[in-house]
Amino acid sequence: MAQQTLREMEKTIHDKASQRCILPECGAVYGVRERIYVCPKCGGPLEIELRLPPASERAGLCKLWAVRAGSRDARDISGVWRYRELLPFEDAAPFVTLFEGNTPLYDAPRCADYCGLVGLRLKHQGCNPTGSFKDTGMTAAITQAVVLGAHTAVCASTGNTAASLAAYAARAGLQAAILVPHGQISAAKLAQSMDYGAAVLELDGNFDDCMRLIQELGDDPSIYVANSINPFRIEGQKTVAFELMQQCNWKVPDHIVVPGGNMGNSTALGKGFEEMLQLGLIDRLPKLSVVQAEGSAPLARLFASLGPNPSAQDFHLPNTMTPVKQPRTLATAIKIGNPVSWRKSLRAVLHSHGQIISVSEREIADAKAMIGRDGIGCEPASATTVAGIRKLVAAGRIQPEEEVFAVLTGHVLKDPDYVNQYHRGTLSMDSGDGPQPINGSFRNVPRRVAATKAAVLKSLDQRS
Ligand code: F0G
Repeated sequence: MAQQTLREMEKTIHDKASQRCILPECGAVYGVRERIYVCPKCGGPLEIELRLPPASERAGLCKLWAVRAGSRDARDISGVWRYRELLPFEDAAPFVTLFEGNTPLYDAPRCADYCGLVGLRLKHQGCNPTGSFKDTGMTAAITQAVVLGAHTAVCASTGNTAASLAAYAARAGLQAAILVPHGQISAAKLAQSMDYGAAVLELDGNFDDCMRLIQELGDDPSIYVANSINPFRIEGQKTVAFELMQQCNWKVPDHIVVPGGNMGNSTALGKGFEEMLQLGLIDRLPKLSVVQAEGSAPLARLFASLGPNPSAQDFHLPNTMTPVKQPRTLATAIKIGNPVSWRKSLRAVLHSHGQIISVSEREIADAKAMIGRDGIGCEPASATTVAGIRKLVAAGRIQPEEEVFAVLTGHVLKDPDYVNQYHRGTLSMDSGDGPQPINGSFRNVPRRVAATKAAVLKSLDQRS
């Protein structure tokens, strides 16, 4: 009987989704219960191909999702599982949730002004349970790990994926192991992973070395890989696009701008918008742009080499991307020289007519402080968005009156050392020729003041 039910369940899930190699010359298709991370035939990247709901059900989706927002069912409260019609899981899947998603979309008038825009909105994915956007993907990846009966979930990480994996694995009662570059990730992120009980393995090497190892470890049947190379992660992460559209009444903005590291986030957003377009929930795609840090910008370099206006229609995806051997940036979350999902991300950006650019350390630091001035705050990697938007406006790629959304990916408390150093004027960057100070424009230096009323009032007077 139990066997029968499982087989029936499998039939339904196979009717709903499959895994497909994205390379046009291969395009091999696999079942969603196969534990694979790259195409076994050609080594190409995989993505989930959904059989979208029939036309008769499509019109009701937006209403159904709106109603669920007021429900008390755990699957409806989660800002990921609420959209389960578009996820490659059974209704009865053993979903593992920390009530991720449901993140705010803020107006940011000071940042808008700073960028030269009439308005700017910030979608703060740092307000997820472990403080970063990774949770929306991790709920799906760890649920799939449970479906497959995995024992140990692992990831390579610059800190946030690790914290998220550690938390969701703990919820599911799975063992978690995280591979992080020794001495190169923020102490706050490392502390989270320790607290959630993961095996924390600090490797001598950089993130790209950790990622290479993960790809080798993925062959081991005891291991479940939870990096964004895993297409189920992308499925969870794509729901931010649905939530965003729901938050603005399905009116498509002109631009969505995200930071770029391993390129899972941009891939996921691109997929979410494509699916909404296919379903007829939106009538056009927003331009999706990605911003990397100058010292870790292999995809921005490749993009620049494609000419001023590359677009998917008349363009074949390049087969190779030259990695950055020694990536550098103080935005450690995106200190990545060889992003695994570059091809999927580039495809999404080209298809939406967006851009991939890079910004300097100083631009990131000042943009981050400006986001703080709007009362919002984020970690350094997230601030590449506002720095990038400012650059795109100055270059005429974004018009001042266009509607622009930036996705902030991590909470301000993810990297307090950076914040303290910026404001105290001790932040510096070593690009190989010794540390160079970053003299931020918006420093807010704490003052030492005598413990008297007069001294406090005098100090406030001097400030205004
Ligand atoms: N912003 C933050 C705060 C991140 O932690 C990351 C990636 C990114 C942006 C880039 O997103 O990789 O999808 O392009 N962090 C990964 C990690 C690499 O291990 O936490 P991406």
